[in-house]
Amino acid sequence: MATLDRRALIKGAAAAGIVAGLSTSALTRSATAGDGDRPDAEIYGVPSVNPLIEQRADPFITPRTDGMYYFTGSVPEYDRLVVRGAPTIAGLGGAPETVVWRRPASGRMGGHVWAPELHRVGGRWYIYFAAGDSDDVFRIRMYVLESPLPDPRDPAGWTLRGQIATEWDSFSLDATTFAHRGRRYLVWAQSEPEIAVNSSLYIARMDTPWSISTKPVRLTTPTRSWEIQGFRVNEGAAIIVRNGRVFLTFSASATDARYCMGLLTADAGADLLDRASWVKTPDPVFVTNERTGQYGPGHNTFTVAEDGVTDVLVYHARDYRDITGDPLYDPNRHTRVQKLYWHRDGTPLFGVPVGKGGPIVRLSPVDSRAALVHHDGSALLVRRDVRELATSQFRFVAGAAGDGTESIQSVDLPDRYISVVDGTVQLTATATAFHRLRGPRGIALRLAADPGRYLTHDRGRLTLGPAAGDRTRFLLS
Ligand code: AHR
Repeated sequence: MATLDRRALIKGAAAAGIVAGLSTSALTRSATAGDGDRPDAEIYGVPSVNPLIEQRADPFITPRTDGMYYFTGSVPEYDRLVVRGAPTIAGLGGAPETVVWRRPASGRMGGHVWAPELHRVGGRWYIYFAAGDSDDVFRIRMYVLESPLPDPRDPAGWTLRGQIATEWDSFSLDATTFAHRGRRYLVWAQSEPEIAVNSSLYIARMDTPWSISTKPVRLTTPTRSWEIQGFRVNEGAAIIVRNGRVFLTFSASATDARYCMGLLTADAGADLLDRASWVKTPDPVFVTNERTGQYGPGHNTFTVAEDGVTDVLVYHARDYRDITGDPLYDPNRHTRVQKLYWHRDGTPLFGVPVGKGGPIVRLSPVDSRAALVHHDGSALLVRRDVRELATSQFRFVAGAAGDGTESIQSVDLPDRYISVVDGTVQLTATATAFHRLRGPRGIALRLAADPGRYLTHDRGRLTLGPAAGDRTRFLLS
């Protein structure tokens, strides 16, 4: 079958967008900073390995509900809806997957099945998804399934509530729903007649979990260069309400390495149906990163980690740049999770899509808790004014089998480690081994080669020295 260029089907003139900047400021340490002797899962906040789930694009993880996280996402075959469940985010990686709905062999909804989301509304589960038809797999429209059963993995509970009809009978997808101040909203992507883009984002009030009750308001249209690479796309909206604001992330451009995320922000007290309430960040907030080897990060959602505090960014990315053929049919958009940080001004700080590997950690000396260990490419600094989140992110990597040592790997320079070279501490390609000693006041990092020497800090630099109480102990966050 010739792969229809689903986004070349629409013609017309582009509309103007609204742009304004958001302030940036130095980082703050996470409120959930570990004290060293708590289990890693608590300290790290997001105790997962990336990728979390391979070949599951457009990932959605519910908030923890009755002690369970539930996952759904697009499968490479685009032919079915699947759900997984586990008591932890990390547990979703190996959890069994149930098929809760399959597309019909022909007719409506018999085409591509895309980007499901699982929401609990009024004590019932709902799956919002998009589907084409068997005679036109790209005649994509939005549909809703409903289940009254407590476990969304039980196929027996699911029945089709129907299509979500909007102002236009056109290409519409990526529905997400959220409740805010007693009102429920739907945000979705759609091709609006007379606007020459593949898809823009719209918002409307909902009167039932499967229908909208107000005219669509266009929130954003792809106009900036990072939104129109390959295709003119704004899609995959996700909402997080924090710090008196409603943050709406979305994805833009073709689904290859040029795919990236943008951000709209509204005051939590504003009229969310008024387009003027929303400010669009002029630049993308989450993009491909060659050094960590993550390409086309996007179609995100948010959840909260097991500690009940740490916000988690859930998204997909590939671990290679070049794709043969239509990216839509490349199966390797993997589900990934990482901690979402916050600037002092209350705006989200996405950082970089971290590479493959285990939990991410930041280190602060117990006697200087507002400072963070970070690098400038070679030196290891210990200061408050960290400008680039990723320079303060590290991973503990287990040493030789069973020797109990660990090296400390840079996240944004994954071929570099905290090294001790001729008695000085630097960021180099040599992975120095440490013993991580847990205790009631943070952890100590003792040099494996010299048990009398520990990581410590002096005049804003990470250095080595004898055990010296809080100067040689670190909080993890
Ligand atoms: O992954 C399938 C579709 O491709 C998703 O619905 C959309 O967000 C993406 O562009």
